[in-house]
Amino acid sequence: MQLLNLQGVTKRFQGVTALNSVDFDLESGEVHVLFGENGAGKSTLINLIAGTFPPDEGQCFLEEHEIGRLSPAQSRDAGIGVVFQEFSLVPQMTVIENLFLGREHKSSLGRLDHRRMKREGQLALSNFGFNVDIGKRVGDLSRAQQQMVEITKALLFQPKILILDEPTASLTEAEASNLFRLIGELKAKGVGIIYVSHRMKEIRALADRVTVLRDGRLVATVPATTVSDDDLVTLMTGRQLDRLFPEIPCKRGDVRLSVSDLALTGAAVKKATLEVRAGEIVGLGGLIGSGQSEFVRAIFGLEPISGGTIVVDGKQVTNPTPRTMLERDITYFPADRVAEGLALTRRVRENVLFSALWLQRFTRYGLLNLGEEKSAARNVSERLKLRPNNIEYVVENLSGGNRQKVLLARGLVRPTSIFLFDEPTVGIDVNAKFEIYELMRELVEEGCAVVLVSSDLQELLHMSHRLLIFNKGRITAELTGDDINEEKALKCFFAEDVLERPAA
Ligand SMILES: Nc1ncnc2c1ncn2[C@@H]1O[C@H](COP(=O)(O)OP(=O)(O)OP(=O)(O)O)[C@@H](O)[C@H]1O
Ligand SMILES: [Mg+2]
Repeated sequence: MQLLNLQGVTKRFQGVTALNSVDFDLESGEVHVLFGENGAGKSTLINLIAGTFPPDEGQCFLEEHEIGRLSPAQSRDAGIGVVFQEFSLVPQMTVIENLFLGREHKSSLGRLDHRRMKREGQLALSNFGFNVDIGKRVGDLSRAQQQMVEITKALLFQPKILILDEPTASLTEAEASNLFRLIGELKAKGVGIIYVSHRMKEIRALADRVTVLRDGRLVATVPATTVSDDDLVTLMTGRQLDRLFPEIPCKRGDVRLSVSDLALTGAAVKKATLEVRAGEIVGLGGLIGSGQSEFVRAIFGLEPISGGTIVVDGKQVTNPTPRTMLERDITYFPADRVAEGLALTRRVRENVLFSALWLQRFTRYGLLNLGEEKSAARNVSERLKLRPNNIEYVVENLSGGNRQKVLLARGLVRPTSIFLFDEPTVGIDVNAKFEIYELMRELVEEGCAVVLVSSDLQELLHMSHRLLIFNKGRITAELTGDDINEEKALKCFFAEDVLERPAA
């Protein structure tokens, strides 16, 4: 049965045609993947179906009934559940309040039935294998946990159509596999699923059909079984891409960063030791919440430390703060682009230069040097293939992946040489990802030291010269050479009896 049919839908924003006469349909019981570069129009299509805004042209049919303007509430009442790329959660409210927002259970007296909501919310989260405290404020959760809440919220009221816009962007393979199991169950019940992802492996595992968009136009809708990964990338970019990852030679030089027995106040990291040399990429992997992200944040002075030492270029740093670490040549790229990253209402140029302003280069007699500023911003946005390639664009109007590029660009205008990347390619398309990997290759070739935290296992396996695995707040394994493979890594992710890491 056809659940949804869009014909010739067009959506324009000032100056941009985000969708140009696109046809799309969804059958019951199928996973229909939307694929395309950053800015191709995927989220715009989803927003039309979710009722966020109406199309400028075109027709929409829900189970063969033509629908005019859908409001978000009407879309929801029609059985459409959406996991938004930028989330729909209210940070000031708790998990449970968010889950039932606008759909609260009431008792016969009209009062809120907190007990029932708590019970159902808790049950739903644990059914999905998500470990989140329902009483916590959403703003205090990690991005991965917020993602789990967003997914649970979309699933709570048995949708007929489920839309997932990069639902695994900040989940690791383990959490993602819970979601895939759920998707399988929903398919069997006849739910139609629209799925957006830049991860080829997921598309392979899930898709029945794939629709490829390029610059707001429909390129093709193809059955997943008859199309190869290479074909998909070619359809997406209009040209061939030989490899997904570059070859990165490792030329280990001097120790740049050395961390011994680092422990965090909240015990997210118990005792972790790491050494990074010039010319190498050290990957940090593990299940979500195993401490890898907190570890790099603590090195940069963003998490309180309760013990251990941090030494940069032979000199100990006693009280790390972002400011002192920047002065010591270290840059951190945060995973959460909204909370920690970007001023959404400001221009790309302002965001990119934001933390470089104190650099002499951009000021003259205390005034901003607009010429230098512009050329530095233009330089990095070209390098990262920002779209639209316009540094005067307001960040709010960029697609998700392009916002992420702005965040990366910000770190790159600064002349540092030790890089801590936390999920650098979340939401970035296959083509632009390669550019970021190339950039890392250039960095290590120039003798920089790189630490890479990623929930994308393929990325970790291909990019790391050494791969350290975090398990329950400790580094429990170090993989090198041929041992950097999926089987070994996953074994360490899940290992129950955590052994101390062997001496290097
Ligand atoms: N509110 C808006 N105002 C102006 N332009 C917008 C707005 N929302 C989206 N756009 C533009 O529409 C185009 C399509 O964006 P969309 O978010 O649909 O891309 P996407 O395919 O989801 O990309 P990504 O993979 O990065 O998430 C982009 O050029 C984007 O800059
Ligand atoms: Mg998007």
